[in-house]
Amino acid sequence: MTTLDLPAVRSRFPALARTEAGRPVAYLDGPGGTQVPTEVIEAIALRLRVGTSNLGGPFTASREAETVVEAARAAAADFVAGRPEEVVFGQNMTSLTFAVSRALARTWRPGDEVVVTRLDHDANVTPWRRAAAECGAEVRVVDFDPSDGTLEVSRLEAVLGERTRLLAITAASNALGTVPPVRRAADLAHAAGALVFVDGVHYAPHRLIDAAALGADFLACSAYKFFGPHTGVLWGRAPLLESLPAYKVVPAPDSGPEKWETGTQSFESLAGVAAAVDYLAGLGEGTTRRDRLAAALAAVGEHETALAARFLAGVAGIPHVRLYGPPGVTARTPTFALEVAGMPPAEASRRLGEQGIHTWSGDYYAVGVMEHLGVAPRGGLLRIGFVHYNTAEEVDRALEALAGLAGER
Ligand SMILES: Cc1ncc(COP(=O)(O)O)c(C=O)c1O
Repeated sequence: MTTLDLPAVRSRFPALARTEAGRPVAYLDGPGGTQVPTEVIEAIALRLRVGTSNLGGPFTASREAETVVEAARAAAADFVAGRPEEVVFGQNMTSLTFAVSRALARTWRPGDEVVVTRLDHDANVTPWRRAAAECGAEVRVVDFDPSDGTLEVSRLEAVLGERTRLLAITAASNALGTVPPVRRAADLAHAAGALVFVDGVHYAPHRLIDAAALGADFLACSAYKFFGPHTGVLWGRAPLLESLPAYKVVPAPDSGPEKWETGTQSFESLAGVAAAVDYLAGLGEGTTRRDRLAAALAAVGEHETALAARFLAGVAGIPHVRLYGPPGVTARTPTFALEVAGMPPAEASRRLGEQGIHTWSGDYYAVGVMEHLGVAPRGGLLRIGFVHYNTAEEVDRALEALAGLAGER
């Protein structure tokens, strides 16, 4: 089995060599966006350096741009276990989700129902609310258990019915780290005759995505959360992508993924997307890129579980620091939402930032999570998130700094 060579991994990320306040920066803000390895930076720069062009020109740079798009689609397809013709690129996950919601809403009727969860990032809630409102459909909201951040499928069963057209569900919470039982939820939604849109943004850097095995009809993720550039990736079942009415300009293609790709794509970013997938695949061994990705993500998962266990054990011993979300390492990512008693989360994050520890505070657009936990009026929560390039020393540094904050309050 592959294990991560952490010093080798870290040496590939130039940003990890940065220092602040005389110490290396601890990037514990991965859930907000990850750092980028050299090969991704080089791939992006190369596209701009050698000469760039739009698609469809009878000359080298244009043909190269076409090759870049093809390579990116093939890489993203391997990343989600789909086919290249099922991969659509866009500015980010949010805009791709709006595009799909708008198209699906044209198939809904007044009285139809859409199910969203309070565990989801707002990018997988508001597009559906807006789309539903525009065609007279109803929105049903499923809650998570505030005591441990879990989403029980029994809660879903209670709202799914013959009027349900869509279930929008996250594969992992960017706030609490919860990994809900998406496949079981999708099976229930399908049994009710609904489609399933999965937000894979927070899941992508931590677990191997198999969109079809998750039960998704659509799955969206964002390369800047998995060591690539700021580009969104949408996977959709081919018959759905083909049959749904995309909002597009007249001369744009009427079929294939291109039908969904408004305007000109960022070809340099697409070169970066392919390089990010290749970077991850390169952490594993195997015959195909998909096999290598599977081995790599297994190794990533093992390392991240060790980091999570270390963090959870340490944080349990710090008085006045409260953890929200799953208390153990199972069915979670190494993303932790915390509260230092008596200290606003923005203040806690600012003080950690002064020590070169990058974290986030607020709601991170997981609006429903903060509302349901009752912490929105207190400014949300502090978020500390680890990815595979983080170290046990960084976990200890975060714990020590948290203990310092708790002692000062
Ligand atoms: C879980 C989750 N979903 C969706 C989004 C939105 O992604 P994007 O910035 O690509 O629109 C984010 C961004 O933070 C996220 O964490």
